[in-house]
Amino acid sequence: MYICELTLQNFRCYSRLTLELPAGLNVFVGPNTSGKTSLLEAVLLLATTKSPRTNRDHEVVRWGSCWARIVGQFGSSGGASPNIAVTLKGQGQVAEGGEAVPSYLTGPKHVEIDRRACDSALQVVGQAPAVFFSPDDLQLIKGAPGVRRRFLNMAIGQISPRYLDDLRRYRRALAQRNELLKQVARGEADGPTLAPWTGQLVEAGVRISADRERFLAQLSPVAADMHGALTGGTERLQTRYESVLAGGGDDEERETAFREQLEKQWPREALLGATQVGPHRDEVVVTVDSRRLRRFGSQGQQRTAALALKLAEAQVIGRRRGEMPVLLLDDCLSELDPARAAGLLELLAGFDQVLVTSATATEALRRCNWTAWHELAEGIVRQKRGVSGTDE
Ligand SMILES: Nc1ncnc2c1ncn2[C@@H]1O[C@H](COP(=O)(O)OP(=O)(O)O)[C@@H](O)[C@H]1O
Ligand SMILES: [Mg+2]
Repeated sequence: MYICELTLQNFRCYSRLTLELPAGLNVFVGPNTSGKTSLLEAVLLLATTKSPRTNRDHEVVRWGSCWARIVGQFGSSGGASPNIAVTLKGQGQVAEGGEAVPSYLTGPKHVEIDRRACDSALQVVGQAPAVFFSPDDLQLIKGAPGVRRRFLNMAIGQISPRYLDDLRRYRRALAQRNELLKQVARGEADGPTLAPWTGQLVEAGVRISADRERFLAQLSPVAADMHGALTGGTERLQTRYESVLAGGGDDEERETAFREQLEKQWPREALLGATQVGPHRDEVVVTVDSRRLRRFGSQGQQRTAALALKLAEAQVIGRRRGEMPVLLLDDCLSELDPARAAGLLELLAGFDQVLVTSATATEALRRCNWTAWHELAEGIVRQKRGVSGTDE
């Protein structure tokens, strides 16, 4: 999959921009604050409806503007070529260029596929998959377990719409169940009132854990390969699913295990007023040579492992869908030594399209087989094309 045209209005530092993008390797070079990350962010927003930088959608709207719009025309060698548009509400009062808020923007976010409005933003996820990596993804190794669960959710969500639906039902059941548990803890409700929510929690939770375990089983060997290619193969990366529901088995076995655990935890739940076990407590354990990277890894090891996980995510999405996602690599070359940077650039050959940003035109970048070279300055993008492997 590739994005052939990206149009931005009132998005971050861009008041208006249309970019034509070829398949292959696109390099974006510009100084800090020239708008590189914002471009990749816009593409990820089209793919997932979420920004990799913030949970507050209004932050991406250009300061002072009351709305922003991103439109992407995607293309693919065999499959669909969706046109995706996301319009977001801002907090500004002034409409940029005198343009009023579009009448269709009734909520915080409006999504269109092929110029037809979607009922739910979730419908767009998986239409045009993309994977984003930036130095902040160090948190994928270093951060709290929630960061790794989010990684799983974003990845599996782009493969299976049903997963997102299960997740939505799980979260609702969890919230309702916790609400009732608080009442139980205060002596205002009793155990049996929980049963319907426990039923929904178990049903959705069993499917979520099965999907997560399957995804990680596919991810782990690929991540090890990617890691090997990045590091010269001296250390062995392993990725493992840790959950009360881990350990394979069919849905029935998982259900029995989940119910048993819930029963066991009941006294604590009734005391604390919160569900103590389930996929919302899952963990992805990442080790190098059997040592937990989260605790024992150096910053460099953690960063390389995070990159390997993201590259592997892209590979697994590609395999499961029969089409590679767009790969968005933000500012990650400067952190790698020249040999690793060259190794990474070689790994990119298998993708339909890669967008790479860098503050400087490094030697490795100039020498690699890029298709388009974009120079950024103050919201303006100048493009050179097709001169592969040279800077002239
Ligand atoms: N909502 C916004 N409205 C206008 N400008 C913004 C907004 N958010 C960030 N910026 C500015 O956009 C510029 C470009 O940011 P960014 O894309 O992160 O650049 P780069 O990745 O090249 O360093 C920065 O100067 C930043 O302050
Ligand atoms: Mg940046």
